[in-house]
Amino acid sequence: MKDSKAFWDKSAPRYAKRAISDQAAYEKKLSITQEYLQQDWSVLEFGCGTGSTAIIHSPCVRKIVAIDISAKMLEIAQQKAKDACVDNIEFLQGTLQELAFAPESFDAVLGLNILHLLENADAAVAKVYALLKPGGVFVSSTALIDEMNVALRLVIPLMQFLGLAPHVRRFSKKELLSMLTKAGFVIDKEWQPDKSSVFIVAKK
Ligand SMILES: C[S@@+](CC[C@H](N)C(=O)[O-])C[C@H]1O[C@@H](n2cnc3c(N)ncnc32)[C@H](O)[C@@H]1O
Repeated sequence: MKDSKAFWDKSAPRYAKRAISDQAAYEKKLSITQEYLQQDWSVLEFGCGTGSTAIIHSPCVRKIVAIDISAKMLEIAQQKAKDACVDNIEFLQGTLQELAFAPESFDAVLGLNILHLLENADAAVAKVYALLKPGGVFVSSTALIDEMNVALRLVIPLMQFLGLAPHVRRFSKKELLSMLTKAGFVIDKEWQPDKSSVFIVAKK
């Protein structure tokens, strides 16, 4: 966890400047998410990074609690929210397991580009289920590392050894869907922008 924090703190300035790799896919994910969001909803985003997605969704809901392990990511996110005059996002440093949220206190949870980075994704999914109100939605976007091209797959361990890549879990889509359904979720929407990632909306 300490290593992960340090990695993401170090990556934050570069991550903030990085261009979105597939703008059309990003916009489609935003629009699918917004088909679900409701004006009186309380939303949790974990692994919010530099806050861009939370800021975009903020006018659609009552409140967003956006959490991240990296203080540096959150510093950038807070500044971006301030610059955009957004005042309904609360940024908190910590993980799903560390922060004490009341059970069934959120209408939606967003976990975007994060599940494959966690040491214990199963525990995170169970926690998301516990934090959602009945009927609440979990929106996730997850990399399927085993579907990436061979060169990229081979380079990941080397980059990890050099401290240039974080821990990653090699989810298959089947494994990911099974993890969600085992936790109690019902899959409501599943979309693959490409073969190495999957966007899922799951309902409690
Ligand atoms: C790949 S970035 C994704 C950021 C954002 N969700 C996006 O889609 O651009 C992963 C983020 O998750 C954060 N993170 C990594 N492990 C975490 C954990 N256990 N709990 C909360 N945040 C975590 C990192 O600091 C980083 O900001």
